[in-house]
Amino acid sequence: MTKKNQHLTTSWGAPVGDNQHSMTAGSRGPTLIQDVHLLEKLAHFNRERVPERVVHAKGAGAHGYFEVTKDVTSYTKAAFLSDVGKRTPLFVRFSTVAGENGSADSVRDPRGFAVKFYTEEGNYDLVGNNTPVFFIRDAIKFPDFIHTQKRHPATHLKNPNAVWDFWSLSPESLHQVTILMSDRGIPATYRHMHGFSSHTFKWVNEDGDGVWVKYHFKTEQGIKNLTEEMGQRLAGENPDSHTEDLYNAIENGDYPAWRLYVQIMPLEDADTYRFDPFDVTKVWSQKDYPLQEVGRMVLDRNPENYFAEVEQATFSPGTLVPGIDVSPDKMLQGRLFAYHDAHRYRVGANHQALPINRPKADVHTYQRDGQMRFDNNGGGSVYYEPNSLNGPKESPQHKPAAYPVSGVADSVAYDQDDHYTQAGDLYRLLTKDERTRLISNIVGAMKPVESDEIKRRQIQHFYKADPEYGIRVAEGLGLSVPSKRK
Ligand code: HEM
Repeated sequence: MTKKNQHLTTSWGAPVGDNQHSMTAGSRGPTLIQDVHLLEKLAHFNRERVPERVVHAKGAGAHGYFEVTKDVTSYTKAAFLSDVGKRTPLFVRFSTVAGENGSADSVRDPRGFAVKFYTEEGNYDLVGNNTPVFFIRDAIKFPDFIHTQKRHPATHLKNPNAVWDFWSLSPESLHQVTILMSDRGIPATYRHMHGFSSHTFKWVNEDGDGVWVKYHFKTEQGIKNLTEEMGQRLAGENPDSHTEDLYNAIENGDYPAWRLYVQIMPLEDADTYRFDPFDVTKVWSQKDYPLQEVGRMVLDRNPENYFAEVEQATFSPGTLVPGIDVSPDKMLQGRLFAYHDAHRYRVGANHQALPINRPKADVHTYQRDGQMRFDNNGGGSVYYEPNSLNGPKESPQHKPAAYPVSGVADSVAYDQDDHYTQAGDLYRLLTKDERTRLISNIVGAMKPVESDEIKRRQIQHFYKADPEYGIRVAEGLGLSVPSKRK
């Protein structure tokens, strides 16, 4: 809030005499270098931007809380999930993936769904999407995949040739491509979509017993989507439609909420389940592992300052609390490095200490110094370990649960290569109208691809998922229908 009758100061607090006219030699100048207020204004302005996120650059955020509604203590010792009725403050950032900061909200793209729980045992970040699966399943392919989603290095234009070349040569993407091209590919707003961890995590209870879990946030607002035409029109009319919708809903007291459920898989099932449970291109059937309620997330407060809170927020799937561990999912493992590395580059080595990222739990580390250390930096307290000064000590009971591993160190492919069953099942689940829109969206997206070879390769994948799926895309593109041979 701006208070009345304050006088303007420099960043160092001294009163400013004139904020409208540079100090010049006479009315025609030249401008004097001794006008340090002018120099500071210009120099600070040049440094107003931090690098935008390399993916998920456009987003909107809100504060809220999580309330436990069901007892899950037999599965996890996470303190914030320890009691029914317990509330934990949180911050959420929703985003699109491929566009730049400033790009339109209503595009066909997955939506990021990142939640930071400020728990009493430190922050817990759940950094998911609005889709239960992903395009690839090994982190080593991520930079190449994202290159195809971004701009061509020469033309600086979006490049459908690269998009479909990569997807057609990476059939593990078929499931996510089918979701992306379906009605769910353009949510009507950030409030009208579900959220998923996508990855498998491990929950561990007080006795050290573990289970594999996947998270599902179900929107209480209901699912609402935009058609391709509506999305395109809105992108022109109001490129910030999702951002505006979220802000206004909260401002009007219409607080959006989601129910959190988990699917729980006994550890031993991972060896025998018909899909690799750590393969992020696959879902677990809800018939095999039904949804179990955990709690409710409500967003009830807008950020006061977008840059301080939304732009400087740093989420990482490796920010975990006791009782929640990672799984061997190869994508998740790569993400454990990528995020905080991005934060050190984008926000700085001490990004964790910024108000939006700072845990509400006490922090006792031996890390010191670094750029922009704006708290007391540990004062004169002990700054190394081991020490005989009674400094903070590790607590072995908080080690992640040990688990056995085996194998030969090598660049190893997944054992299972069925990319078609789940994509086909999804296609067969769609109604007649939903299929028609799916095909129309795919045909519209593939038409600009110059190479028939790429189109034919991709059509084969649709065909293998379901012959009708492949045939209809081929017909839409005016290409020969694939042979019945699989
Ligand atoms: C943002 C890397 C896969 C969800 C980011 C950022 C990086 C990144 C570097 C920007 C972080 C920042 O500057 O703050 C990767 C890599 C992946 C991967 C290397 C694969 C190996 C995924 C998957 C999901 C996901 C599978 C969802 C299940 C998100 C979200 C954000 C994000 C939601 C935005 C977080 C925010 O709002 O600040 N990713 N990503 N990413 N990623 Fe990933």
